[in-house]
Amino acid sequence: MRRNIAAGNWKMNTSLEEGMQLASEVVNMATAEVVKDIDILLIAPFTHLTSLQKIVGEAKNIFLGAQNCHEADSGAYTGEISAPMLKAIGVKYVVLGHSERREYFAESHALLASKTDTVLRHGMTPVFCCGEKLEIREQNKHFELVEAQIRESLFHLSADQMKKVVIAYEPVWAIGTGVTASAEQAQEMHAFIRKTIANKYSQSLADSISILYGGSVKAANANEIFGGADVDGGLVGGASLQSREFVEIAKAF
Ligand code: 13P
Repeated sequence: MRRNIAAGNWKMNTSLEEGMQLASEVVNMATAEVVKDIDILLIAPFTHLTSLQKIVGEAKNIFLGAQNCHEADSGAYTGEISAPMLKAIGVKYVVLGHSERREYFAESHALLASKTDTVLRHGMTPVFCCGEKLEIREQNKHFELVEAQIRESLFHLSADQMKKVVIAYEPVWAIGTGVTASAEQAQEMHAFIRKTIANKYSQSLADSISILYGGSVKAANANEIFGGADVDGGLVGGASLQSREFVEIAKAF
C-alpha cells in the first residue's frame, strides 16, 4: 500500500556545513518524535549528498534524494550528474520535472520520460513533478495540462515500472508564494491524477502510488492538506530549510 511521505526539497540552498547541521537536526528530532510510519526524504544539493549519507546512515525511514539527474549513464556532458553516480552514494529518490527545471532549463515531456527511464533502470524512485501555472488554472485547463504532463512522460512505462513512481502535484502559483492550494483544490487534483492513472493502468496500481502536494506547505497548514484522501504527503521547499518546521510537517499526518 502507498506510503505517506514528507519530502524536503532544499533547492539551491545551504552551504555544506549548514546542510549537515540541518540534516542532523532533522534526523535527531524525527527519530525521537515522528511516531507514525512515514518516509522522510532529504532532497539536498548534489555536493552535500555524500556527507549527508553518513548522517542519515541507518536512520529508520529517512532517505536521501537528488533534485535532478542526467538521462545518460555517463559521457561528455560537462557539468551534469548521472543516475549511477547518485545510486553509488546511496541516493534513493530523484526529483524529476520540477517546475523550476521545466521553466528555467526547458525540460520537455520527452526529456523527462527519458530521465524517468534512467532513474528506474538504476533502481531509484523518481519523484515526478507536475502542476500548472496560474494562467492555465484561470483558463480552467489545469486538469488537461496535468494529464498531459503525466501521459507524455510516464504512460510509456510498464505497470511494474509505474508502480515505483512517486508523483508530486505542485501548482506553480503556490510555490514559494505563501499561497497554498486549498485542501479541496489539492484533493481534487490528486483524485484526478489517481483516476488518470487508474484509467491507464488499474485502480489497484493507482491506489498504490504516493501522490504528494507541494506549494507553500508549512507546519500550520500541513495537517489540513494531508487530510485529503488522495494526498499522501508533501514536497516541501522553504519550510524544509528549518528543522523544527519540517519535523512538525512530518508529524502532521
Ligand atoms: P515551497 O514550499 O517553498 O513553496 O516550494 C515548494 C516546492 O517547489 C517543493 O519542490
